[in-house]
Amino acid sequence: MATFDGWDPSQYNRFAAQREQPFWDLARLVRAVSSPAVVDLGCGDGRLTATLGETLGAAATLGVDSSPAMIDRARSHASESVRFELGDIGVWEEREAFDVVFANASMQWVPDHRAVMRRWAGSLRPGGQLAIQVPSNADHPAHLLAEELAREVLDDPPPDAVARNVLAPETYAELLDELGFHEQHVRLQVYVHRLSSSVDVVEWMKGTSLTRFKEPLGDVGWEHFVSVYRERLISRLGDRRPYLYPFKRILMWAQRS
Ligand SMILES: C[S@@+](CC[C@H](N)C(=O)[O-])C[C@H]1O[C@@H](n2cnc3c(N)ncnc32)[C@H](O)[C@@H]1O
Repeated sequence: MATFDGWDPSQYNRFAAQREQPFWDLARLVRAVSSPAVVDLGCGDGRLTATLGETLGAAATLGVDSSPAMIDRARSHASESVRFELGDIGVWEEREAFDVVFANASMQWVPDHRAVMRRWAGSLRPGGQLAIQVPSNADHPAHLLAEELAREVLDDPPPDAVARNVLAPETYAELLDELGFHEQHVRLQVYVHRLSSSVDVVEWMKGTSLTRFKEPLGDVGWEHFVSVYRERLISRLGDRRPYLYPFKRILMWAQRS
């Protein structure tokens, strides 16, 4: 895949503990079935993918991600029953190939969730389960200030994926019903991440949402952007130690009949 890879697994993993909680909350929604075939879409560095496969007792687990840096790391977690491949989850589908389609903190990066979820649903075998978690926090100052600053320094800044792509929880519930899932669970949950200081929000954002600015800004522009962003964010949030970072997420689960 020839796209720019702004993902830095080490930066992303600085907040691994906080990011893991929703992953496991989502995994707990999946009902136990015998030796399922599991796919983890937007699997990142694969560490959680391999553990998910073990936890669900999977016969086969596939991790898919579009970042070569993430997939390179992920391959160190491959085994006889766990494999990884590069792919674009925005167009991914494998007709009736899986018992569990799982996507934690990845679907927000792709547009048109109606079409995406239709393809993912079609990749489930009868009785298969869909489990998806997306952030729903585009109204936090960390996102609003990044947008504001990007519009000042770039002619055509890449949009905030969460603001552009993520739907309301009730829209996902309707969509799951339209897709023929008659059993479902959709909830909005507020995670309160206790960070050591408000400055840590900058480091958090550098590992995810801000990655989209790296390429258009170039190295020098990126350093400047981060420094102005840090100043504005601290002036908005205050220099708080610790800082409770409230983070809204939508968790959804549904099972095919
Ligand atoms: C926030 S990380 C989540 C990683 C992992 N699921 C976890 O819970 O730790 C988002 C991942 O989605 C991947 N991603 C973003 N857009 C993608 C796309 N169009 N196709 C495949 N993967 C994508 C990124 O490369 C990144 O690894």
